[in-house]
Amino acid sequence: MWGGRFANGPSAIMREINASIPFDKALWRQDIAASKAHVDMLAVQGIVTHDDAAQIAGGLDRVAAEYEADGVPENWDLEDIHMTTESRLAELIGPVAGRLHTARSRNDQVATDFRLWVRDAMDQAELGLKQLQVALVGRAGEHADSIMPGFTHLQTAQPVTLGHHLMAYYEMAGRDRSRFADARVRMNRSPLGAAALAGTGFPIDRFRTAEALGFDGPTDNSLDSVSDRDFALDYLMAAAQCSLHLSRLAEEFIIWASQPFGFVTLPDSLSTGSSIMPQKKNPDAAELVRGHSGRIVGCLTSLMITMKGLPLAYSKDMQDDKPPVFEAASLLALSIAAMTGMVAEARFRTERMRAAAELGYATATDLADWLVRQANIPFREAHHITGSAVKLAESRGVALDQLPLGDLQAIDARIDDRVYAALSVDASVASRASHGGTAPNEVRKRVAEARVALGLEETA
Ligand code: ARG
Repeated sequence: MWGGRFANGPSAIMREINASIPFDKALWRQDIAASKAHVDMLAVQGIVTHDDAAQIAGGLDRVAAEYEADGVPENWDLEDIHMTTESRLAELIGPVAGRLHTARSRNDQVATDFRLWVRDAMDQAELGLKQLQVALVGRAGEHADSIMPGFTHLQTAQPVTLGHHLMAYYEMAGRDRSRFADARVRMNRSPLGAAALAGTGFPIDRFRTAEALGFDGPTDNSLDSVSDRDFALDYLMAAAQCSLHLSRLAEEFIIWASQPFGFVTLPDSLSTGSSIMPQKKNPDAAELVRGHSGRIVGCLTSLMITMKGLPLAYSKDMQDDKPPVFEAASLLALSIAAMTGMVAEARFRTERMRAAAELGYATATDLADWLVRQANIPFREAHHITGSAVKLAESRGVALDQLPLGDLQAIDARIDDRVYAALSVDASVASRASHGGTAPNEVRKRVAEARVALGLEETA
């Protein structure tokens, strides 16, 4: 494509290091669409004839049909998807194919194709996360009353409901969705027509190609247009943060599925067995989601470091932008799908959760609060009294509400038998009815609002 200036062809090493076709062939649909929008505009602007444009567009359709049927051929000499398509077009329709590259460069071409690809990836992530939210809300609604231990430091802290716990992940997925949606708004401008870096002398209409490709308009600075990969970084940042959330959810399932916890039975469809230990049912899907998040964060780091310090405008380093984005996108899609299935199909062992909440002195705060409210004791003192009660119960291996009143009164005479009502895990969760609290009625309110937000119901 640049042979005119060169006496000798590239070495084998040059051809290999230069070739992006092994990965950028994934952009073929975007490349064809952008080329068709471009040639249509060239004809409307009188830069090529309508007849030539029609031949080129028809040829591009034929190339697309071949790619669809047989895949994109990988010839390193043709370097990338743009040259592969143009070269095949020339084979099919002859020298008129050479008019397609008027008033553009591969620099604006790849920036356009890649934006289109990333825009789809953002839409897909958003859609996948919505499905995850639907699954979370469904299970949270079922379990608005199911009591489990709530943890801090992974130590039993206060009783919560499983519905409340699941709705925490609904919130995270919602923020992730908004990050993708927000990034999409910011990136939806067309770089096509920025040409190599400085714009073009041909009378192109960048608004027309922008509209044809579903962009809100053209970008406003040609140098920025060909050198900007913020859209890919925005995608990776949103993907990385999302993957952290998925990894945390996966970790919950891994812990809950362990025998000492026994809070959940994982769906067979998302577990594996052991070839040596017949009793094993391993949470491999969840572990891989946890592992994939590390790789996704690595993809973000990779592109950030690629872009760091690049002067304007295009540099070939930027060809390395695609593998991390493609990798992150496929890992993220799989991770979202795996966690959606896990949430939807897991069998929660609510009796085990409840028993664990009753065992771990989870209502100690309720005893302290009761002392504050009923006996007008300052909280710090109440905290101390409660600590003594927990110590006594622990030494006897019983729950707080199994301590006889006499023993409680020996610790502090101001305690009376009304305290038992506050010590049950049910009373504890029901009392936490502050906005966003774990009380079953609060959880039901949040679930109802979420169902409306997700379009599952019209009004709460
Ligand atoms: N394969 C290249 C990439 O992905 C296309 C742009 C090449 N531009 C250039 N001036 N060599 O970045």
